[in-house]
Amino acid sequence: MKVAIIYGNCRKGSTYNCVKIVKETLSKQGDFEFQEIWLQKDLPDHCLGCFNCILKGEEYCPHVEKVAPIVDTLVKVDGIILASPVYGLDVSGAMKTFIDHLCFMWMPHRPKEEMFSKIGLVISTAAGTGTKRANKSMNLALDYMGVKRTYSFGANVAASKWEDINHKKRVRMERDLASLGKKYHTSLVKRVNMKDRLFTKGVFIMMKKMIAGYEDGNVDKEYWKSKGWL
Ligand SMILES: Cc1cc2nc3c(=O)[nH]c(=O)nc-3n(C[C@H](O)[C@H](O)[C@H](O)COP(=O)(O)O)c2cc1C
Repeated sequence: MKVAIIYGNCRKGSTYNCVKIVKETLSKQGDFEFQEIWLQKDLPDHCLGCFNCILKGEEYCPHVEKVAPIVDTLVKVDGIILASPVYGLDVSGAMKTFIDHLCFMWMPHRPKEEMFSKIGLVISTAAGTGTKRANKSMNLALDYMGVKRTYSFGANVAASKWEDINHKKRVRMERDLASLGKKYHTSLVKRVNMKDRLFTKGVFIMMKKMIAGYEDGNVDKEYWKSKGWL
């Protein structure tokens, strides 16, 4: 099975080590290939807000050379892990930039049908507070792309380095992450036959009504027609 990991920072710190435990757990359960994307290196450009992706097509994004390979990876994998440290009580700027660049493939625009059967996992670490909000930001992005299920893990590590985390806390995190990794594996195995979520169905139906009302020639409407959704 294939899992894409999107890192919101390049540091091999607490967030990275949390992901590492999930990776190790998955590898013990079966044959896994991990495709790792380091946003600060692989997608360093902010969204310019030009609307090209939404109004003309994602191929017109000024950063298409960096965005397209990431989207291609996401479409091909079974699972997607988004991992970010908490900066200023939310995700890192790099993770937010990734979310902004992929809005064109949210359900209100041109969702990728492959996303409807994927399993997500969001992971964040903070010194003291903010993982709930950071996880919500990442979770919502996956929800609006149509991802079938998303698990989440957040930890207040009270440290700036993995090595400095209190021993008892680290052991507890390692145990919780290993158990989450097993759950994540079970969902990955069952993903195709799992029921669609009510949230996805509801948003999809609402968007279908909205997009059907657009004028012919609208990029989103033509896309939905080409998929046989209208
Ligand atoms: C710029 C910056 C902003 C931060 N903002 C917060 C914050 O709002 N709340 C918090 O609890 N920790 C905050 N932290 C601490 C980190 O979230 C925390 O140490 C995290 O575990 C670092 O992850 P890493 O080891 O993967 O880099 C911040 C750290 C940095 C560098």
